[in-house]
Amino acid sequence: MPSNPTYWDYLHLPELLDLQGGLEGDEDQLLTDELHFIVVHQVFELWFKLVLRELRLARDHMAAPEVPEEHVPHVVHHLRRVAQIVHLCASQFAIMETLTPQDFLAFRDKLIPSSGFQSFQMRELEAVLGLDPAQRVDSGFGDPMAAIRKLGEGSPGGALAVAHLDRANAEQSVRAAVHDWLYRTPIHGSSPGDPDDDAVVAGFVEAYMDSAAVRAEATRARLVDAGVMEAEAAERKFASSLAQNRAFMRAEGVEDGGRTRRLRAAILFIESYRELPLLAWPRALLDIIVEVEEALVLFRSRHARMVERIIGRRVGTGGSAGVDYLDKTTKYRIFTELWAVRTVLLPRSAVPPLEGGSTYGFAQPEAP
Ligand code: HEM
Repeated sequence: MPSNPTYWDYLHLPELLDLQGGLEGDEDQLLTDELHFIVVHQVFELWFKLVLRELRLARDHMAAPEVPEEHVPHVVHHLRRVAQIVHLCASQFAIMETLTPQDFLAFRDKLIPSSGFQSFQMRELEAVLGLDPAQRVDSGFGDPMAAIRKLGEGSPGGALAVAHLDRANAEQSVRAAVHDWLYRTPIHGSSPGDPDDDAVVAGFVEAYMDSAAVRAEATRARLVDAGVMEAEAAERKFASSLAQNRAFMRAEGVEDGGRTRRLRAAILFIESYRELPLLAWPRALLDIIVEVEEALVLFRSRHARMVERIIGRRVGTGGSAGVDYLDKTTKYRIFTELWAVRTVLLPRSAVPPLEGGSTYGFAQPEAP
């Protein structure tokens, strides 16, 4: 790059604008619709590149053995950008939709077997965020990771794809780093390793769930009084959801030395006492993580609707069942604990009183 670069030097425009050729030999006859198709996909992949960089920076901050308070706003900053980009990507499908079904069919078959299924950056993004491979649904075609590896054999592009996947699978995910950090969160002023920590965490969870039971009883009675639910059905429904919520918060059946119970309690704690100075940024962090995941789910749904509009229910060029497969992927959730805790949350007035408030930079009178 020259030392006083022009706009076109700095952005490598000559190279960039020369990358939309289509398949070898047909550069000159490229249809306008096909150019549109290629440009839209390339723009997505550029956004994915930036998203991956931002996610890794966020993860690196969170992966520190101790995350300094002042680093949390940096993480929120990186994830805010990620959320905006993913929202933008979802809205970009409207541009793709200016391609009519018939005009797409004019060049669709020559793409085979290429497909967004092989977007290694999308797979990398899922792995860096921490999608559990066990959640992957049957595409009717096979494991997308294995498909990329197989197609990648023996070509430079394929080697690059495999290198991206290997790197992503070997590193710590955002989910794992956030979980480690949540696990260490002080609850009522107590941290892991403190003599009574188990009892403090259990006490917080039980007090919270007792309050939830009182609250649920009031809601149940109102629903029955208003004629919305039959008394018996309401009784059954509320008792079963309360039992489920308690079991979830106690992490019943999870044998990991109380780790899952503690990190779930930490999410509940941060959400419940979010006005405390030391918890305000952690709360903002949990919220932006949920927004990133929500944006990703909307991206998947928006893509599926666009696909349905353009190709109907045909088999995809990658060989999957098409829209039916894509709709199933909208069920994926990476930050399952953050979503699940939302079902348990209480309004501020019903939250048990805070203990050990000074730990969080708050001079509130302590509970008697
Ligand atoms: C005419 C436009 C498009 C059509 C008809 C289409 C169709 C499909 C279909 C049918 C699949 C399922 C896999 C297969 O069998 O091929 C798929 C997967 C995928 N597409 Fe598209 N697509 C289009 C545009 C895009 C664009 C612009 C992007 C942006 C990057 C994209 C990203 C993806 C991704 C990431 C997957 C993998 C989904 C998963 O397995 O979770 N697609 N697409």
